Amino acid sequence: MYSDFLYYAPTKVVFGKNSDQQIGALVKEQGATKVLIHYGSESAVRTGVLQRVEDALCAEQIAYVKLGGVVPNPRLSLVYEGIELCKKEQVDFVLAVGGGSVIDSAKAIGYGVANEGDVWDFYDFKRKANACLPIGAVLTISAAGSEMSGSCVITNEKTGEKRGYSSDMSRCKFAVMNPEFTMTLPKYQTMSGAVDILMHTMERYFNQSDNMELTDVIAEGLMCTVLKHTRILNQNPNDYKARAELMWAGSLSHNGLTSCGVEKQDFATHKLEHELGGMFDVTHGAGLAALWGMWARYVCHAAPARFVRFAVEVMGVCQMETDADTIEKGITAMEDFYREIEMPTSLKELGIAPTDAQIEELAARCEKACGGPAGVVVPLYKEDMIKIYTQARG
Ligand code: NZQ
Ligand code: ZN
Repeated sequence: MYSDFLYYAPTKVVFGKNSDQQIGALVKEQGATKVLIHYGSESAVRTGVLQRVEDALCAEQIAYVKLGGVVPNPRLSLVYEGIELCKKEQVDFVLAVGGGSVIDSAKAIGYGVANEGDVWDFYDFKRKANACLPIGAVLTISAAGSEMSGSCVITNEKTGEKRGYSSDMSRCKFAVMNPEFTMTLPKYQTMSGAVDILMHTMERYFNQSDNMELTDVIAEGLMCTVLKHTRILNQNPNDYKARAELMWAGSLSHNGLTSCGVEKQDFATHKLEHELGGMFDVTHGAGLAALWGMWARYVCHAAPARFVRFAVEVMGVCQMETDADTIEKGITAMEDFYREIEMPTSLKELGIAPTDAQIEELAARCEKACGGPAGVVVPLYKEDMIKIYTQARG
């Protein structure tokens, strides 16, 4: 039987070339009286997107304060700063202008303002949030899907722990998605984003459930679309249509659509990668690419039919004489795709060389963060994680 499910995707999406013209009206619609515009290190200023956002709020006479400086693997210290600023300025709406890191930092600030005590408690499994300030997003990179997800991932830079916290309260009220905004991205970020988009659906697609046909077909369609348009962007980064396909795929890949009817999602590659982000500050999508092949080879024996279907339907591999050969061809085809778009297929290519002791530490932290084994295709315990990290070293 298919698993019962709840699909909740309340974010109003305003998509397209002129979508940013609606920012002021969207914020006003939320009844905001004072807004925190939250953004990253420098791209929002350099590209003029921040100015457009400010102009949009001014046009509606909406008061705002600004806090930039969010870095990839967004840091707890800036979240604390944002909470203080919002309390001091009586901010009642947070507008994130950026990608997953900025949106996640905005969500964490939203939790911190709306709840008593230390916001890190939520990420450290100590307690649950009761509320969150309303959040809106102006997306500038297609990747994490935070603009429609209920997740939020923050790094405690003092301990090197990168932790996620999820609740529907943090889901964005609206997301403004202008694909043109992503044309200023460095290639590495575009491609890391594409890997992350693929992975959000792959983490749901590889499971031990009795899957709904519709969900599988949507997932496969999404993955094929991302493969195709990422290849187009690899040749021509200014292709608007490809930028648009990727942007919409990024949201649909992580808003729950591709896990409807799935009993339990895997997400082990994500859990393993988050530890790399916490310890080595690597780019999320690139870290996923570096680990996925080893994860896949480690677990594929436990879900052969899924891996065969993936090889044939998504990677376009011909069925071989044995399932094992088809599966290996499918995994290799994905790794070849990573190479084609200059993404790493090992930790060495990712630019890190964890020692045995560091791998032991990564695995211990990962098991702690999961509260037990990671994933469902094969539940991975610390010893399994150590093997995967070690094999992924390259
Ligand atoms: O800081 P700036 O200068 O803006 O530069 C950013 C950053 O260096 C740059 N960038 C963004 N838009 C740009 C641009 N550069 C030029 N032009 C533009 N239009 O891109 C870099 C990466 O930005 P970031 O926000 O970190 O990217 P992404 O969206 O991939 O977010 C990654 C974070 O999201 C988390 C990841 O773990 C990571 O911390 N995730 C969040 C999830 C969620 N909340 O649902 C799910 C994901 O699985 C993921 O874990
Ligand atoms: Zn991800």
